Amino acid sequence: MTTLPQPGASARAIRHHYDLGNDFYRLWLDRGMVYSGAKWAEGDDLERAQLRKLDHHIEAAAARGAARVLDIGCGWGALLERLVTQCGVVSAVGLTLSDAQAEFVRARALPGVEVRVESWADHEPPAPYDAIVSIGAFEHFARLDMSERQKVEAYAAFFRKAWSLLRPGGRMSLQTFAYGAGRTRAQAVAAASTRFLADEIFQETDPPTLANLAEAAVGAFEVVELSNDRLGYARTCKEWSGRLRARRAEAIDLVGAAAYERYQRYLDFAFLGFTSGNLDLYRVTLQRTRRLGATP
Ligand SMILES: C[S@@+](CC[C@H](N)C(=O)[O-])C[C@H]1O[C@@H](n2cnc3c(N)ncnc32)[C@H](O)[C@@H]1O
Repeated sequence: MTTLPQPGASARAIRHHYDLGNDFYRLWLDRGMVYSGAKWAEGDDLERAQLRKLDHHIEAAAARGAARVLDIGCGWGALLERLVTQCGVVSAVGLTLSDAQAEFVRARALPGVEVRVESWADHEPPAPYDAIVSIGAFEHFARLDMSERQKVEAYAAFFRKAWSLLRPGGRMSLQTFAYGAGRTRAQAVAAASTRFLADEIFQETDPPTLANLAEAAVGAFEVVELSNDRLGYARTCKEWSGRLRARRAEAIDLVGAAAYERYQRYLDFAFLGFTSGNLDLYRVTLQRTRRLGATP
């Protein structure tokens, strides 16, 4: 039963993207199938930089050793796996809207891991979580046809729900890409790259601005720490693009030439966006407020 309206991308739109096939994504993502901006340090390869990013969020959310952790937008399950195998977490629950991702995670039968094809808006756990991590899903929580006000309201509904899912004193670590400071939203929305991404790649999806995020969190979460690692995401996109190009023939066999070209174009646009500052990549550590307060 839907408890809250879902204002962002629908399950159909999410499946359009993620259900292109696990084998396709396996060609160009790292071994852990992590599909979000990595955190690079000197000497890292993609695998290492993705694990560094996962560990950042685990520490930021104080999830190490916790009994119950929620991963909102769990993808192919790399964080869930790390939580139960490396961090002593007893129960790690992942939410995704993609059947293909959920099947992939279930097939691994990791003890302590539960994956649900369910939106955060519908999630009603039996008890609150000790920590929440959400990486690369917030981008999907509003649509291009929404006004700024509607977007902030949609994000605020997410923060209120996350507040209710967390125990008192709990933390959430969030990662999202966002429109950078270099353009107004009107300019960004009018750009060919934005239209292409919204029409062809991430349907029913429009990223936030930093101001949207900060305004929407008021009353539910205090911002403890925030970083912008846009160049880390640029490097990740470049890496993905190179890996996909190297597997071109297999990719075309799996998804066809048109989808292959679409993905190369998307990775090139994203690389340029993060390099130029038209796109940002935020990692935000959030502390649950004691009482759910004012809404924007
Ligand atoms: C870019 S992937 C990131 C996956 C993973 N966190 C990672 O870093 O590899 C976005 C994920 O968000 C999920 N998602 C999008 N909207 C959602 C919603 N309303 N509720 C739950 N998950 C959602 C998608 O199904 C997908 O698993």
